[in-house]
Amino acid sequence: MTADRVAKGEAAAPRVLVFDSGVGGLTVYSELRKARPDAQFVYVADDAGFPYGGMDAETLLARVVDLMAGLIGRFSPDVVVIACNTASTLVLPALRSRFALPFVGTVPAIKPAAEKTASGEITILATPGTVARDYTHDLIRKFADSSHVHLVGSTRLAGFAERELAGQPIGDPELRDELMPVFVERDGARTDMVVLACTHYPLLLERFRRLAPWPVTWIDPAPAIARRMVHLIGEASGGPAQPAAQALFTSGRRPPAALERALMQRGLVVDARENLLSDVTAV
Ligand code: DGL
Repeated sequence: MTADRVAKGEAAAPRVLVFDSGVGGLTVYSELRKARPDAQFVYVADDAGFPYGGMDAETLLARVVDLMAGLIGRFSPDVVVIACNTASTLVLPALRSRFALPFVGTVPAIKPAAEKTASGEITILATPGTVARDYTHDLIRKFADSSHVHLVGSTRLAGFAERELAGQPIGDPELRDELMPVFVERDGARTDMVVLACTHYPLLLERFRRLAPWPVTWIDPAPAIARRMVHLIGEASGGPAQPAAQALFTSGRRPPAALERALMQRGLVVDARENLLSDVTAV
């Protein structure tokens, strides 16, 4: 908690900055808000940079570090949640060494998948960026050595989730084409665990379930991220729930009405006045 906020009497409600390239981080934000309804959340979507999934690593690293400098200066958060696997698997060390506050990352939930699999066939469904990261390969080596891990890098699913929430649903055939590589059958053993390693994907989960050729366990790390945040900022104070949180988009564009409604259902109000990129030079 910063000294000026304590002086203003805001000491009871920690401020949490939740960051993603788009609306995927909402799947994490919902769990964070459930865990600390009294916290002040600011949700920032770098829609001007979306999608992160195909961005080269150097550009993405510089972009997120620069953006974060502006955001931390502007909002003075007590904790930042990077609600994006594509960014977290790359930028967390740089963020932690540059800024003196805690960062919670979102990284592929490989360990729980390896602990739960019965068939030994695990799929990690992520963006091409996350699939290529050393960080992801290190997690597989460390936690899933005795399983067969199938990596699927989707170029389209995050965009589908964005369109779905903006009121332009994707047809079943297109979605099925993108989803089918997840399901593998090898020597009679079928994929039984699918790690949702992009925060956009749980937005499509009901549709995934319906299109799946056989039932699998879908692993969404959002509840674990909320537990990590609570570990850092403590349990709910018993103070009143915050009526609404601020949502900002780096493009400065007003989101479509359907998306604004979806945000409102999640307790977020769009603040289209802020020009988030004005402080940021390199993006
Ligand atoms: N939501 C992001 C993730 O968790 C990535 C989406 C994108 O920008 O490609 O990886």
